[in-house]
Amino acid sequence: MAVTGSVFVAFLLFHMAGNLKVYLPDAELHFNEYAHWLRGFLNPLLPGSSFLWAFRAVIALCLVLHVYAGTTIFFRARVARGGFGRAITAKWHALTGRTMIWTGLIILCFIIFHLLDLTVGAKGVASKSFSGKATYTLEDGEVVTNAYQNLIGSFERPAVAAFYIITMVLIAIHLSHGIWSIINDFGGTASRTRSVFLVLAGLIALVIVIGNASIPLAVLAGVIS
Ligand code: HEM
Repeated sequence: MAVTGSVFVAFLLFHMAGNLKVYLPDAELHFNEYAHWLRGFLNPLLPGSSFLWAFRAVIALCLVLHVYAGTTIFFRARVARGGFGRAITAKWHALTGRTMIWTGLIILCFIIFHLLDLTVGAKGVASKSFSGKATYTLEDGEVVTNAYQNLIGSFERPAVAAFYIITMVLIAIHLSHGIWSIINDFGGTASRTRSVFLVLAGLIALVIVIGNASIPLAVLAGVIS
């Protein structure tokens, strides 16, 4: 869980940095340039979009292993407790720990929705403006997918924007416990180390929720369009 979880934390920070390009002046150009760069990363060293596909394979493998390990831990813990429930404590850290399986399952549903919405452009999930054919011409004349307009079109739907925002909060809750657990699993169990990483985990989660959730909010508020 710790190894695959670390991959996700790195991915989320990287993905958020790319998403924040929507705030740059001339955002449509910068965002589409970035999406295009990502598809052809390490080209011509590697042919076409082969890096992207290798990257997708690693993320998919990590997801399968993470979900498998998470459900195994969940059921093992139930067996270990016998007929007893978990100790009820109002401490934030205990609450986030208890809800890991549920926040995790909602995040899994979100990922499926998100891929159908912004990567595949599936009918009935993606916005009407996403046809998979919406294009943008870069400064060098190359015609690419208009990832920026797909994103704006998606978040202009209030229910979808609300789903993204709520999920970002759940991701932050999941991460605040997950990052702290990663450090413990890697052996950082001294009480000072634990305290430092408890704060650090909260900070990273906060950065990710603010950075990401601000985007659907900004679209809804008409700040970016
Ligand atoms: C509000 C927050 C988010 C925004 C605005 C956003 C935006 C996007 C966009 C525009 C794409 C398509 C890029 C393209 O077509 O080139 C994408 C792809 C993707 N996003 Fe997000 N995303 C957000 C949050 C997340 C979160 C929280 C996760 C993971 C839990 C995630 C996982 C992915 C994955 C796996 C892909 C597919 C990458 C690929 O294989 O091409 N995203 N996202």
